[in-house]
Amino acid sequence: IYPALLALLLSLLAFLAKRRWKRYGPEPCGGKKLPSPPSLPLLGHLLELRRQDLPVRFMELSQCYGPVFRLRFGIQDVVILNSVEIIREALIKKWSDFAGRPPSYTGDLISFGGKDLSLGDYTPLWKIQRRLAHSSVQRSLRTNLESLISQEAEHLCQDFLSRGSSPMDVANDFSLHTCKIISSMTFGVLFDTKDPEFQAIHKCIAEVVRLWSSPRVIVLDSVPLLRKLPNATLEELLRMAERRDTFVRNQLQIHKETFRPSEIRDILDNMIHFLQERQQREQSLAAEGGEEFNEDHVHMAIVDLFIGGTETTASTLTWTVAFLMHHPQVQQRIHSEMIDILGPNHFPEYSDRNRLPLLWATVSEMLRLRPVAPLALPHATTKDTSVAGYFIPKGTVVIANLYAANHDEMIWKNPTQFRPERFLEAEDPKQAHRNVLAFSAGARVCLGEPLARMELFLFLGHLLHHFRFLPPAAGQLPDLCGIFGFNLRSKPFQVRLVPWTEPGLGEGQE
Ligand code: HEM
Repeated sequence: IYPALLALLLSLLAFLAKRRWKRYGPEPCGGKKLPSPPSLPLLGHLLELRRQDLPVRFMELSQCYGPVFRLRFGIQDVVILNSVEIIREALIKKWSDFAGRPPSYTGDLISFGGKDLSLGDYTPLWKIQRRLAHSSVQRSLRTNLESLISQEAEHLCQDFLSRGSSPMDVANDFSLHTCKIISSMTFGVLFDTKDPEFQAIHKCIAEVVRLWSSPRVIVLDSVPLLRKLPNATLEELLRMAERRDTFVRNQLQIHKETFRPSEIRDILDNMIHFLQERQQREQSLAAEGGEEFNEDHVHMAIVDLFIGGTETTASTLTWTVAFLMHHPQVQQRIHSEMIDILGPNHFPEYSDRNRLPLLWATVSEMLRLRPVAPLALPHATTKDTSVAGYFIPKGTVVIANLYAANHDEMIWKNPTQFRPERFLEAEDPKQAHRNVLAFSAGARVCLGEPLARMELFLFLGHLLHHFRFLPPAAGQLPDLCGIFGFNLRSKPFQVRLVPWTEPGLGEGQE
């Protein structure tokens, strides 16, 4: 009975959706009709979702249908933006029109009913939450964050040195160390990466992301009928989210008990301070709609910083090692650049970006070629609007294909090639760095961009100061295609980290 009901429901909704787009059809308010590939009755373009590398598939479709087109997944119309120009028009020029998030049943289940920062819609309460998280991260960046990151990068290098030059998988080490940095920023605790308790919470965070983006959970957002059926993946997700929340709740409790307004120790203190001040100001208590900004919003903002701050930067670092193994001459040139400019006993500081242009260019090239959130997070229009002259109704789901923008041939010559030099050769190198859209743009631009860039520059600087990245055996180079999903991760690979002073065997190929 379920398939029959589902088919009926889908056809009804498809009919309604079609009518909605017809209503706004060709030029109801001066807009053109959005191109859309042929679709199947009922299913629309659902079969496209069989392709794992959706960003690449959308890029292919944009070659036939132009940089902006519409797809329909079951009952859901989705507009896909595929070029730098179009994404900028929507997310920057018309930022507030595109600042919403679509409703998410599963997102609500793991965020106290939608009190999330990254998944929350563009509401007055969300704006408060975003401003608070932004100012808290900025405050943290102004403290001695750079020395903490450098210290962690060096700890990691010493740890690698102690393990010798035998092949290893570095992805989990990067993830644990970036998680340690964001934990220190948010909770003021410098965990030991070998502490089993820390490893457990690190794993739990990764599991929440993995389970939430698994097909068995995603489908619940678009097919409500399935919510009635038993779903082991969803149950596991709820268990993991509960474990995550217990950890954050404990940290909140400890912070509240030891809080002193005169001594703001970390991001969580800053948020508690804001909350307490706000609660004292009676007139500010009720935001629009009567709901208050409360501890749940702080809780979820912390969760998002924790999630955002862990896997993304670590994945980009892992990608960089993989690509550099294919390009040993670039490794050599970055190493020489550091030694020539800074001398053999100095590590790069973040202010050395202009003095170490190749190192800085390598960070940008990696963010361009392998943006770890290739489709960003889904946006939703907050009112009737348009892009490139095409009308888009309020409430439409909009996907910014950052992967396509970063491979846009109008902007990048030979976009699939790894060539950090492109930034050095550009007429306007600053503009070239700005053209990389890995962190998205506008109202929902990644809150952690300055932190991530600093981490990438300093970690890569320390690593390449000490080591060459060599394959485990001659010719055994990492696969650079990656695994597409919510995140774009590299496939697991082994690398030998060999100090520059030692001879290396089995180098990669340029
Ligand atoms: C959102 C990329 C690191 C926290 C995002 C988005 C992207 C992104 C593409 C979605 C923007 C949109 O929907 O248009 C990246 C990349 C990173 C990185 C490539 C590293 C290489 C971080 C770090 C943090 C962080 C270190 C934590 C400090 C967040 C948060 C959001 C977000 C909280 C949600 C923003 C909102 O919805 O308003 N990130 N991110 N990210 N990121 Fe990052």
